[in-house]
Amino acid sequence: MDLSGSSSPLRSLERRPSTESLALIHVFALLSFIPCIRGGSSFSSIFSFGDSLADTGNLYFSSQPPTSFHCFFPPNGQTYFGRPTGRCSDGRLIIDFIAESLGLPFVKPYLGIKNGQFDDWKIEEGVNFAVVGATALDADFFKEKGIHNVPTNDSLRIQLGWYKDLLPSLCNSSSSCKNVLGKSLFLIGEIGGNDFTYPFALGKSLTEVKTYVAPVINAISSTISELIDMGAQTLMVPGNFPIGCSAFYLTLFQSKDEQDYDGAGCLKWLNKFAEYYNEKLQSELNQLRGLHPHAIIIYADYYNAALPLYLYPTSFGFEGLRACCGSGGPYNCNASALCGAPGAIASDDPSKFISWDGVHLTEAAYRFIAKRLVIGQDVVPK
Ligand SMILES: *[C@@H]1O[C@H](CO)[C@@H](O)[C@H](O)[C@H]1NC(C)=O
Ligand SMILES: *[C@@H]1O[C@H](CO)[C@@H](O)[C@H](O)[C@H]1NC(C)=O
Repeated sequence: MDLSGSSSPLRSLERRPSTESLALIHVFALLSFIPCIRGGSSFSSIFSFGDSLADTGNLYFSSQPPTSFHCFFPPNGQTYFGRPTGRCSDGRLIIDFIAESLGLPFVKPYLGIKNGQFDDWKIEEGVNFAVVGATALDADFFKEKGIHNVPTNDSLRIQLGWYKDLLPSLCNSSSSCKNVLGKSLFLIGEIGGNDFTYPFALGKSLTEVKTYVAPVINAISSTISELIDMGAQTLMVPGNFPIGCSAFYLTLFQSKDEQDYDGAGCLKWLNKFAEYYNEKLQSELNQLRGLHPHAIIIYADYYNAALPLYLYPTSFGFEGLRACCGSGGPYNCNASALCGAPGAIASDDPSKFISWDGVHLTEAAYRFIAKRLVIGQDVVPK
């Protein structure tokens, strides 16, 4: 991982004169891993763990899909796939753009493979274990706290179990696994966002939810260590988004006090919470780098990659905080009829919106974020 090479996008950005120092600081923060992805040795496969930000069809193809789930209906998928695929968006997700940028096929969903939906799949091409709604922690943790709206069957530990079931068909000894998996990119997340969303939605306080941060990060950290022990060498670990800018959270925690909002109209306390979580995650990743000096552990700064969209939406051709597809309300996000449910309508041009259904982002926003992360595109507003 060479940051000093003349081809490094970091260097070209450093040289670029600009008045927009804020945006440059953000770029600096997240470019640190780009050379790993862009460098000479490319990856031959992706293994992914996570939630709806990365689910490419697991819940959709699961043996007992929640048949009325809003993401399974049009207009989900309309922009790119032309039909619902189980992705919660109008098109591709960040993981799809990462796969494309590495010249790899879209990462197929494990439960779809199990259900015989992808006959041509070979384990060598990788697999996606991310499931809509998944949490980093097990449902038992939440039950003890009186939180009963958490799905039970697809936590990070369960996803890791699926991976362990598959691994022997790829390699059988630690040296062969290291060889085979050395050219794989492991995406661990985003995961953990739902561990906070379920309790917040049930009215748990910020003070209470903050106490879940350490266990969530422990769950992510121990998964990373196990994966490395089983042969993983390059792991990318995304943090949380600026959730105070999410139409879902803006609707849930609407406030009459202007002081609660920043200049972009986002809820300051929720963005602070996401920043707090991201800082803790990054310091844990630093610890892990010390423990596993031969692994490449990359922090993917989703927060700062997305932030310019919210700060300068019009500079990038976006419209702000309202969801593209929904059934009304100040942010077009009515939780009782999300995009895909009867009564929800999509605007004509999703490419102008950051939020797709209030909870998830549009393909245009995901592309913007992926480009900043992987391609290192200039993000200084015009
Ligand atoms: C969870 O998994 C168990 C065992 O595989 C299965 O019996 C159960 O139906 C699943 N529950 C849900 C909600 O999918
Ligand atoms: C690993 O061992 C199992 C059981 O002996 C076998 O079925 C599998 O094909 C082996 N995998 C590889 C990659 O050799």
